[in-house]
Amino acid sequence: MKDVHVVILAAGKGTRMNSKKAKVLQLLAGKAMICHLLDKLLSLGVDKISLVVGYQSDEVRKALQDDYPMLGFFEQKEQLGTAHALNQARDVFSKNGRTLVLLGDCPLLEENTLSQLLQQQGNVLLSSVFVNPHGYGRVLQDDKGNVIKIIEEKDATEKEKSIDLVNTGVMLFNNEDLFQCIDFIKNNNKQEEYYLTDIAEIFYEKNIKMTTVSAHSQEVLGINDRFHLAEAEALLRARAAEDLMRQGATLLDPLRIDVEGSVVVGRDVVIEPNVFFKGNVVLGDGVRIESGARLIDCEIGAESVVLAMSIIEQAQVAEGVQIGPFARIRPKTVVEKEAKIGNFVELKASRIGKGSKVNHLSYVGDAEMGEGVNIGAGTITCNYDGVRKYQTVIEDGCFIGSNTALIAPIRLGKDVLVGAGSVISKDVEAGRLVLTRAPVVEKENRRKKK
Ligand code: UD1
Ligand code: CA
Repeated sequence: MKDVHVVILAAGKGTRMNSKKAKVLQLLAGKAMICHLLDKLLSLGVDKISLVVGYQSDEVRKALQDDYPMLGFFEQKEQLGTAHALNQARDVFSKNGRTLVLLGDCPLLEENTLSQLLQQQGNVLLSSVFVNPHGYGRVLQDDKGNVIKIIEEKDATEKEKSIDLVNTGVMLFNNEDLFQCIDFIKNNNKQEEYYLTDIAEIFYEKNIKMTTVSAHSQEVLGINDRFHLAEAEALLRARAAEDLMRQGATLLDPLRIDVEGSVVVGRDVVIEPNVFFKGNVVLGDGVRIESGARLIDCEIGAESVVLAMSIIEQAQVAEGVQIGPFARIRPKTVVEKEAKIGNFVELKASRIGKGSKVNHLSYVGDAEMGEGVNIGAGTITCNYDGVRKYQTVIEDGCFIGSNTALIAPIRLGKDVLVGAGSVISKDVEAGRLVLTRAPVVEKENRRKKK
């Protein structure tokens, strides 16, 4: 495999996408289309990868160079066709090596197909049988299975159009054969482009073999427009859903789930429709996630429940916790065992101790909370003075009455009881009752005065 250099053609504008953005940067399952290919190549240990860029080449480079420092870039100034594009990367075709050509708009290729291709010797075309081959180049083979030629849809006769074996655009070459033949490719076709696909016929005439390896049509979808993009999105969604189900999760509707990243689940997890996962998410055994939840880079412990419409981001939730509905758990938050976080509660950079409850309408930020604390409805940790953020410490067993403002920095010792409606602006010692409360004024004869 060490002798293989991968060249990805990605210079085209993607006219049919109707977008300001270069096609290979269009998002697919949350990341640029091109990154799907790059990530798979890297995970296979391929690191000699070049990209032929053209349309918006600066943007494409910028989007990739930091995350993929091993990438080489070649510029195709004018988009004169796929053979012309490959020719721009000619410098990397070592004399005795092999070149694997991939298309930037064919991102669904699976790792084992790529790996199977990389193990082939000789010139190989990745082909596929399509029920509806419209738009793809068709492959003509002799009776031994060697490729005779590839005909582009636009140049095909009616009879040729009825062939259902299509060119996926993925080709593996012996560099020697490639060198020998690429310059013979002409642009005498409907589009006046130098088609890389014409190399098949040149090979055949020169008695150079080109065989085929077949792929499932679903992994070689070429993405030319937004309809294809949605098809690809649906295929990736189905793959992610299947993976979750095989791991042990029940998906109430496998068609309505989004995974942008990796999700590891335990056994007997239940995921309701329209849940969105991003980054690295881990769900323990027996976790239930209700509909409309968004989980981003977080860990949810066994038997915990995330109720509808809750958002959890960069947080750790322990076992037996209940969150939501409509809760927002922001980064750097840790919710310990059996805690309960209820509706319209926002937590940020806080630790919620074992069995503590923040059940309704509260903001808890930069707080360290002990065990068995009860936070009444409408409690706010006032952590920000407009310049700096300050910490709130609430020790074990505290009970905070509803509609309380805790002005940080502040520490409430163990078992403090705060009366409802208080504004507490200083530390309170353990075991005390504390409150601030304006007296109730009650006057007679309101109606008469009026
Ligand atoms: C191409 C194939 C077709 C195949 C299909 C599979 C050719 C001539 N046709 O058609 O046989 O069935 O893919 O999806 O190869 N590109 C450049 N420079 C150019 C032209 C294209 O870098 O001058 C890049 C594009 O950015 C794209 C890829 O090559 O990533 C394919 O180009 P596209 O125009 O989409 O080719 P198709 O018409 O889809
Ligand atoms: Ca295409």
